[in-house]
Amino acid sequence: MKKASQSCSCHFTPSLCTKMQTSSISNSLSILLLLVQFFSAQSISSPQDISALKAFKAAINPTSIPPSSCLASWDFSTDPCALPRRTHFTCGLTCSPDSTRVTQLTLEPAGYSGQVTPLVSQLTQLLILDLSDNNFFGPIPASLSSLYNLQTLALGSNSFSGSVPRPITKLKKLETLDLSHNSLSGYLPEATYLLSSLRSLDLSYNKLTGSLPKLPYNLIELALKNNSLSGIISKAAFDGSSQLEVIELSENSFTGKLEAWFFLLPAIQQVNLANNNLTAVEIPKPLNGSSDLVAVDLGFNNIKGYLPVSLADYPLLSSLTMRYNRLRGTIPVQYSRKKSLRRLFLDGNFLIGKPPSGFFSGNAEISGSLGDNCLIGCPGSSQLCNRSQKSASLCKKAYRGKPRS
Ligand SMILES: *[C@@H]1O[C@H](CO)[C@@H](O)[C@H](O)[C@H]1NC(C)=O
Ligand SMILES: *[C@@H]1O[C@H](CO)[C@@H](O)[C@H](O)[C@H]1NC(C)=O
Ligand SMILES: *[C@@H]1O[C@H](CO)[C@@H](O)[C@H](O)[C@H]1NC(C)=O
Ligand SMILES: *[C@@H]1O[C@H](CO)[C@@H](O)[C@H](O)[C@H]1NC(C)=O
Repeated sequence: MKKASQSCSCHFTPSLCTKMQTSSISNSLSILLLLVQFFSAQSISSPQDISALKAFKAAINPTSIPPSSCLASWDFSTDPCALPRRTHFTCGLTCSPDSTRVTQLTLEPAGYSGQVTPLVSQLTQLLILDLSDNNFFGPIPASLSSLYNLQTLALGSNSFSGSVPRPITKLKKLETLDLSHNSLSGYLPEATYLLSSLRSLDLSYNKLTGSLPKLPYNLIELALKNNSLSGIISKAAFDGSSQLEVIELSENSFTGKLEAWFFLLPAIQQVNLANNNLTAVEIPKPLNGSSDLVAVDLGFNNIKGYLPVSLADYPLLSSLTMRYNRLRGTIPVQYSRKKSLRRLFLDGNFLIGKPPSGFFSGNAEISGSLGDNCLIGCPGSSQLCNRSQKSASLCKKAYRGKPRS
């Protein structure tokens, strides 16, 4: 006992030491009691975080919280950040090393259903908010914009509705934004480009309308598949997008001509613009013969003209799909000589002539289809020619009065 009271000053708070020292308490039981009180008084999660977590849980339909889920373990009779977490708060959140602030709120896909309380914005040290694959509904609270440390906002595969809140463009540290597979509508925020740390943007499978806004400079992956976006693919939107590698804009209503600058985006690797209403595409030779372009899908548009020969100059191009457009003319022999090409879908156009023999000789391992065109001598033994060609009358009609390239 004596020993403890001598060294206590460096281990305990003055008040506790005083209590210990002044003790005529000389029995060890009462000391033990004090210690227990002291450590349980270590309720150090910030009160604003505790009230935010309480409100967050309270907004979730209790019948959607399975008994053995993370949220079921959130029992506010204990401190959310207190360690060790044996029975309560066993998962779903992570706290700062000093156990004062919540830094991650990551729920598992358990079918949680409810709205996200605007009070979640009190978790101002939050780095990650991930509620993916649940049944959250209602609006995405605009107050999330005050989570100024947020790096990842993942609310995909829920039932959120309303628009993408404009204020979230204030999240200067946001690197990943995934709101895909919801029912969001309206325009994309004009100020999307202000998300200066954003690397990955996925708003696919929503009901967004309007045109493409100017994109953030540091974006690497852009996915806006299956919305109702329209207008042209404008250079202004992609100005400065020097790191953009993946562009997924399929299943929208983009129109007009895809211009040469697009394929010269310096980091471009994968392009999917299938199922739009593009009418023309202009493909330049790669700058200095160098490009990382690997895959291009322009299928199911309304593209007229000839197959772009310059595509064969992209050294890594391995997958090319231009099926179901209104392409005419012959298939460039350069395509058949292109060693990197593994998949080629040109079916559903008005291509004529004899396909280059290079496709069918040697051990060429190209898959895809040249069917449903106006080709002659496409060897039925080849999987590429598996599907039949258009009828002679249909082809004749398409080329009536037109030069046979
Ligand atoms: C979007 O996807 C749904 C099914 O997931 C499909 O029915 C619909 O046609 C798609 N929209 C477009 C524009 O392709
Ligand atoms: C595509 O654009 C043409 C006009 O350029 C229009 O007539 C047609 O309805 C559009 N198709 C779709 C599916 O939007
Ligand atoms: C492309 O070539 C030009 C001159 O021909 C050179 O100035 C430029 O640095 C090259 N760019 C790349 C990316 O190699
Ligand atoms: C064409 O390919 C499909 C599968 O890709 C196959 O089921 C079919 O038998 C093939 N037809 C011919 C004529 O080879």
